[in-house]
This record gives sequence, C-alpha cells and structure tokens, in this order.
Amino acid sequence: MPATVLVGAQWGDEGKGKIVDLLARHSDVVCRYNGGPNAGHTIVADGETYKLRHMPSGILWGRECVIGAGCVVDPAVFVEELDDLEARGISTDRLRVSGNAHVIMPWHIAIDQGGERRLGKLKIGTTRRGIGPTYADKAFRLGIRIQDLLEPKILRQKLEVALAEKNVWLERVYGAPPLELEELAARHEQLAQRLRPYVTDTSLLVDRALRDGQAVLLEGAHGTLLDLDHGTYPFVTSSSTLAGGAAASVGIGPTRIDAVVGVAKAYVTRVGEGPFPTEIEGDDQTRMRKLGGEFGTVTGRDRRCGWLDLVALRYATRLNGFTTLALTKLDVLSNFDELRVCTAYRLRGGEETRELPAHQSDFHHAEPVYEVLPGWLEPLDEAEDLAALPEAAREYVELVGREVGVPVALVGTGRERERVLRA
Ligand code: IMP
Repeated sequence: MPATVLVGAQWGDEGKGKIVDLLARHSDVVCRYNGGPNAGHTIVADGETYKLRHMPSGILWGRECVIGAGCVVDPAVFVEELDDLEARGISTDRLRVSGNAHVIMPWHIAIDQGGERRLGKLKIGTTRRGIGPTYADKAFRLGIRIQDLLEPKILRQKLEVALAEKNVWLERVYGAPPLELEELAARHEQLAQRLRPYVTDTSLLVDRALRDGQAVLLEGAHGTLLDLDHGTYPFVTSSSTLAGGAAASVGIGPTRIDAVVGVAKAYVTRVGEGPFPTEIEGDDQTRMRKLGGEFGTVTGRDRRCGWLDLVALRYATRLNGFTTLALTKLDVLSNFDELRVCTAYRLRGGEETRELPAHQSDFHHAEPVYEVLPGWLEPLDEAEDLAALPEAAREYVELVGREVGVPVALVGTGRERERVLRA
C-alpha cells in the first residue's frame, strides 16, 4: 500500500510511536504531518528508550524521513534531537524538512506561557512549547518559515517586523522581558547553518516516492480529539490532526492515500484540561496511571485516565475513515478484575446516544453508559497472535471492532518493540 496515514484516535498518547515504528520498518518514507515538539513518541528498541519530539519514528530504521509543511519546528529543539540521535549512533542523513514549515520563535514560547498564566482557571493546559502562537502567526501571515532562516537578509527583515509588535505584547500584556534583535538574528543564523542540509521541497520528494511505487507512511501527532476543527475545542492543539489533514500538510493529493490506521489505547488518557466523560474517579485512576506509566513524554505531567470510550472512538472513525485499528497497551488492563467500556452517552434530558454530541454543552454533561466486562487477570506475554489471547481479552478486542465497525488488526501487549500481536 503506497500511502498509509496513521492517526491517534483519542486525545494523543495512544502509543502511536510503537505502531509507527512497526509500520516504518516496512515503509520507504516516513513523514510527520502536523504539530511540533508538543508531541512525544516513546520507542523502546533493543533495550534503548528513544523519546522523539520532532523526528519521524522511521529515523530509527534509517528510512527517508520528512517533516512536512504543516509542522512547526523549534530549531533549537530540532538541533538538540539531531545531536542526541547522532551521539547514539542513529544517522540523520536521510532526514528532510519542508522549507514551508513554520518556525517556533522565542516569543511564541513566551506568549504561550504568559497566555496560560493569564487564563488562570480557564487555561487550556498546553505543553507551553509555543505551538498555538506559532500556528496563529502562520494564519495571520506573520510567521517565519524554515526557508526564511536560510536567507539572513529576509530573516532580519522579518525579525524586525515581528519584534516591533511582539515586544509590546511581551512587555505590556505579559510583563515579560523584550527580545533583542541582534541576539535573535545571530542565534538563528547559527541554527540555520545546522538546518540547511536538511531543507528541501518535501512535497516533491513524497510525490516522487509515490510515483516510484515506494511505501509512504504519514505519521500524525497528538490525536483526533485534539484536532483544531473537530476536537474538544478550545481544549485542542492548533493543527489538523486528522487523516484528511495529512495530505494537505505534506503536499500531496488525498487520492494518494489508500489506508488509514487508527491507534487507540485499550483505555483512554488525556493531558491538560477539558471534558473527559469516562475519566475514572478515585484509586482506580491512580492505579491505571501507575500500571500504564501514564506520565507525559514532553511535560512529565500526570495523564488523566479513563475507561475505553467507544462513542469517541466511533467519532474518530467517522472523522478519519479508519481502514484498520491498532489497540495498544491491552496488558495494562490485565490487572483489573472488571472492566468498563462506554458504549453510549446519556444526555442531560435522559436520552441515550451512540454518537458524540455536536454541541459542546451536551458533550460536557454527557454521562457514560457502561458495559461491564470480566477481566482476564493473567499476563499476555505468552500470546503470539490475537487468537492466543485469554478468552476475556479476545472478547474485549472483538467488542471494540464490532462496536466501531473497523477490524482490529494489531494489539499492543507490552513496552518492547516486538510486543504487538497481529490478527
Ligand atoms: P499545545 O499543543 O501545546 O498547544 O496543547 C494543547 C492541548 O493539546 C493540551 O491539552 C495538551 O496537553 C494537548 N497535547 C498537545 N500535544 C499532545 C500530545 O502529543 N499528546 C497529548 N496531548 C497533547
């Protein structure tokens, strides 16, 4: 299958890194299509743990890797990641970055942080990496792109225009120190030298790869419910996380995509603020967090934990057109004698719905309707394929496929690279 999109089906942190890693092995080109260093993919390979932020996961397999035009890049973090990978013997020679990707500048980070502080109780709970302000400037047509970094005269001109406005914001609105033109220009000219060899026309690169019959994997960051248009706004990220956004962000036509893999955790987690109907109250939440190691890759924050929400998963299926599902971290549920799965919501008026409510207030007040399933209370290490899972675990997986109407093709049963079962 030449072009496959892989999308998080929940609120991010679905364990996509592991599935991307598996698919990347059989791909020629792996592209990140959205977001920036707010994403964090953890991959455990040969006993080593890699926490990737900008880099497509294919980098660990030596594949051609692309950071698409729809991404935002923090050049300092990017260079740090390059250095780290190279120090660990991972080549970055086949990495390419779109010249159209936007640059996260120091004022974006300061504004993200200042904005969250100012919002107080109303905060979004962002990763504070400058994502929202960078995408906002892109839409405002004030952004600085990777290709601007490569031309000192243009860069200086853009910095002048931006600083004239941003320094007023920083000082007057957020009480933050202003940024200095010469210092910024010098720092970014230096970072540009490190970035230069990686910058190319990535739309053309991917198009050529597809014409040559190569397998291209488009890797989404975050998750469906964090999508700017269709997620739980305003508690979302600022990019298009959906499969439909992948083609536009990378710069190919949507007709080139032939498969969409949705990745969902066997339960649900969310970081930051916002509604979460199946969030678990009390000790079971803490237990699940500990068992699943549910602490943010980027920020280290505790992730909120909840039971699997099939209403939300159905919604994600609708928005992305999943052709298959990957269910991750099923082993974490091995420790619960009873499992809850949300199959419908009860709305304020008492009626039940199987579809995610379109109106925010209905969603905020939705109560989960649970089906209670028996747990399996045994480790899943022995199983070599889905058929070999304990009966209750198999039924759990089958219920998901049936309720959502998409086959579950992969199931994750442990941290290591090889702990993925196939149908
Ligand atoms: P931002 O992307 O930093 O602007 O954060 C906006 C919202 O998206 C916050 O609730 C973040 O916690 C959430 N978010 C952003 N990236 C990720 C991710 O990779 N995993 C989970 N949540 C994320």
